[in-house]
Amino acid sequence: MSLSKSKSKPTPNSNANDSSAADHAESATNLSSVEAHSAQNLTEESRQHIAQESGEDCATSDELSFIHDAVLLPETVAAVLGVKSLPPQKDATKGQNSLQMSGIYVDATFGRGGHSRLLLSHLADDAKLIVFDKDPTAISVAKELASTDSRVHVVHDSFATLTSSLAALGITQVDGLMADLGISSPQIDDGSRGFSFMRDGAVDMRMDTSRGQSVAEWLEKVDDETLANVLYEFGEERHSRRIARAIKQMDSYESTLELAEVIKIAHPNWQRGKHPATQSFQAMRIFINNELGDVDDFLAQSIPILKPGGQLAVISFHSLEDRRIKQFLQRHSKGQYPEDENLPMPPKRPRYFSKPKRVGPSKAEISHNPRSRSAWLRLATRTDSDYLPDVEQ
Ligand SMILES: C[S@@+](CC[C@H](N)C(=O)[O-])C[C@H]1O[C@@H](n2cnc3c(N)ncnc32)[C@H](O)[C@@H]1O
Repeated sequence: MSLSKSKSKPTPNSNANDSSAADHAESATNLSSVEAHSAQNLTEESRQHIAQESGEDCATSDELSFIHDAVLLPETVAAVLGVKSLPPQKDATKGQNSLQMSGIYVDATFGRGGHSRLLLSHLADDAKLIVFDKDPTAISVAKELASTDSRVHVVHDSFATLTSSLAALGITQVDGLMADLGISSPQIDDGSRGFSFMRDGAVDMRMDTSRGQSVAEWLEKVDDETLANVLYEFGEERHSRRIARAIKQMDSYESTLELAEVIKIAHPNWQRGKHPATQSFQAMRIFINNELGDVDDFLAQSIPILKPGGQLAVISFHSLEDRRIKQFLQRHSKGQYPEDENLPMPPKRPRYFSKPKRVGPSKAEISHNPRSRSAWLRLATRTDSDYLPDVEQ
């Protein structure tokens, strides 16, 4: 469900002038949903600020400390392996008490490999792990891992290419799929990537710096109204119109700190403990990386790619993503279309998933790693229903 009243969705390469743009600031519906979301969900950037303030830093070369900072780590790995919990491990890197599972698994968002490394420690020698990431630095780390572990295969591409990228490796079905959505701490910590409003850098924000347009390039071309729609739709920013106008009055888009300052001045309603540019930066990042579109594509492809009994585990950090995953799993675990009052019996569609479940971080994890507080893990098991591509998804 889109919160925007605009009829056409802006896309990363469009500059459409949507004349039906919502009056973002004043909508009563907007107010209630924004308040509800912001009470429960911190953005990725806010999580990072909490982490920075509490002295946590995930951008470390020490692999173990990164493993410890990976969110909902044992829960996600257990889910992907289809077990209730992992056996206690004295040393995750040495594979003691390993489950030694065979099969083919996918980590759709490698990052620095926290989830991948724990998963690998429970895989048998004949298992395979295919890891995806859009980010060139994440891919270098993944390639380093692959050079010492022949079970690992690396794909530098979006997880939206799941089916074709796996087919290129000769794989048509897998036993488990996991994704930990959003951006990583190393990405935000590197000011030159443009994700942070606290560190100066180019206004880029691409996860994959080898392709696509940067936010700066897009801002040069976009009109006020389209920009406002993006800030509203992907950042739930109530003051999107006035912020968009202020951004478009800037002479150039060369510095994230300058951009953040302009947003701060234009923002009429600062909240304690939250930078006024938080939602606008989140919106531009989600838009330029087509994050929600990629998630939709990935979820749709999970149906034919997962074997019967295969496991899906997806971690998200904000309501825009979590809602999509929840609705996808609801739709495909009920086996019925929404009720149509004109029909005596609602028609059936295949039940592709069973046991959908939501898991949040424990109190202990939140106190150890404040970054985890807005995370939700959604899990489900693929049923044995044949995939029927012609039946409406
Ligand atoms: C939260 S981090 C994952 C951290 C990882 N689980 C770990 O333990 O290190 C998210 C990663 O997903 C990548 N990413 C985000 N969207 C992607 C997409 N559509 N396709 C591939 N990678 C993506 C980002 O570049 C980032 O490295």
